[in-house]
Amino acid sequence: LLLAVALALAAYLIGSVPFAVVVSRIMGLADPRSFGSGNPGATNVLRTGNRKAAALTLLGDAAKGWVAVYLAQRIADGLALSVAVVALCAVAVFLGHVFSVFLKFKGGKGVATALGVLLAINPWLAVATAATWLIVVYVTRYSSLAAIVAAIFAPLYFLLGGNVAWPMEPSLALAIGIISVVLLFRHKANISRLLRGKESRVGSAAKAGA
Ligand code: G3P
Repeated sequence: LLLAVALALAAYLIGSVPFAVVVSRIMGLADPRSFGSGNPGATNVLRTGNRKAAALTLLGDAAKGWVAVYLAQRIADGLALSVAVVALCAVAVFLGHVFSVFLKFKGGKGVATALGVLLAINPWLAVATAATWLIVVYVTRYSSLAAIVAAIFAPLYFLLGGNVAWPMEPSLALAIGIISVVLLFRHKANISRLLRGKESRVGSAAKAGA
């Protein structure tokens, strides 16, 4: 149990690294918490117009989700620990991003990190979820709406592919479900903006209100 807690804590710390803030600082851009939606995430970094910074943020935030779960899998395999430990680390790295210890327990919305987590669980699961996100962004130009739809579909994909494309692990299903629910709650302001027709679209220079 102690080991499980230690691994979860390590995953939480990895998840806490806010790549939006780090990349923006290194590249001399404004802190993403100070403009647009105020969210430290790739979408908001993109609102500076700097695509490279946004791509690096997306990559960094996704990579930390992948790394934490991948390492947890290797350690769990090596020490014959239960998959539940991996599931715990998946939730922990995601929560690290959302409630970052480096940002006074504020953080991002977890879209990129969740994708990294799914990639480590199963690449096809990540492909299906990312494709869902891409289709919605392509059609509507709303990054937030794409994240909301993808978050609804990800747990369904996992259940559908369970024991077909990957082993059906109830603890992983639970982890993905928890991640999706938290992710949806983090998009409360976006949902209200979408309903009011006030959400900013990807590729437009308009700034969304906080
Ligand atoms: O990646 C988060 C995205 O779904 C919404 O971001 O900045 O438009 O609130 P934002």
